[in-house]
Amino acid sequence: MRQTILLPGGAGFIGSHVAAELLTRDYDVVIVDDLSNARGDVIDRLETITGRRPVFYQADMADRAALERIFTENTIDVVIHFAGFKAVGESVQKPVAYYRNNLDTTLTLLETMAAHSVKRLIFSSSATVYGMENPVPYTEDMPRGACTNPYGWTKSMIEQILSDACVADRSLSVVCLRYFNPVGAHESGLIGEMPNGIPNNLMPYITQVAVGIRKELSVFGNDYPTPDGTGVRDFIHVVDLARGHVAAINYVNQHTGWESINLGTGRGTSVLELVHTFASVNGVEVPYRIAPRRSGDLAFCYANVDKAQRLLGWCAEKTVADMCRDSWRWQQYAETL
Ligand code: UFG
Repeated sequence: MRQTILLPGGAGFIGSHVAAELLTRDYDVVIVDDLSNARGDVIDRLETITGRRPVFYQADMADRAALERIFTENTIDVVIHFAGFKAVGESVQKPVAYYRNNLDTTLTLLETMAAHSVKRLIFSSSATVYGMENPVPYTEDMPRGACTNPYGWTKSMIEQILSDACVADRSLSVVCLRYFNPVGAHESGLIGEMPNGIPNNLMPYITQVAVGIRKELSVFGNDYPTPDGTGVRDFIHVVDLARGHVAAINYVNQHTGWESINLGTGRGTSVLELVHTFASVNGVEVPYRIAPRRSGDLAFCYANVDKAQRLLGWCAEKTVADMCRDSWRWQQYAETL
């Protein structure tokens, strides 16, 4: 029977790509988004890409009455919870707002799910929960570490809340997907990442330099103990990441309890490797200069992906060149919006 998947935060970067994968498969999709960090016309573009229009509610996930109405008007089978503030730097400036928003939305969601006997949840977690102390590659059996910013702590705390909820209610099924560094965009070029203001993350900064919005990229540190001295990350194509969520739906349908699962490629790429690949596959210049290290950054961050393969039967397939090509295609379209 066709399942209905609720996507809080589903108009954002990762949520919209998951929506596209679900709509092209046999799922009904309900998106809830307050559009505080996304555009409403993403819904139209999803319809253009997939030929199907998701149900859409513009609402804040902490708005209990709105959530109650959404759960009453739709029979939800699985929730994939993307809603939340996500800017690392901003979370240091506004910690209370980050804790209030990210925890409140999750608690209100959990209470509403319980009231409607919805038992299956997939949560957008992050590799940031491994903290500073664990050695790479990260495996899910490592303890969660000390995070370097409030954003990271909200992910770590929510994982704990969800794990406690699963102990208390043995019929709950929760998977926390720990994302590494999602980049790239849908092949259509119609959906992608659209940061507000100056991008914090590397790929949107590169694309904005390439298109001429920003003068040059600052590479934060070239004296790390890595092959070329710049930071090494596990960049994963957002479409691969989205397909990992589809695999996680099958998993939560068949199991109960709490699991954390890494979604990465298992391969590290340095900042300069990404810059050079982007420039060469797209035939564009990406001027950069070496700048001081950014506080809180690690030299290495990459996943062990065995558990995703074992439990979900999923692994990432796209290359760094694919990520660069698709990010660039999207940046050029985004200019026209
Ligand atoms: N970098 C630059 N210049 C920039 C931006 C980034 O050199 O302008 C470098 C960073 O120093 C780092 C790498 O590019 O070495 C990646 O940085 P991002 O900001 O793109 O990503 P992070 O690895 O710092 O952060 C990501 C997610 C967070 C998550 C974190 C930990 O954005 O949400 O991974 O897993 F918490």
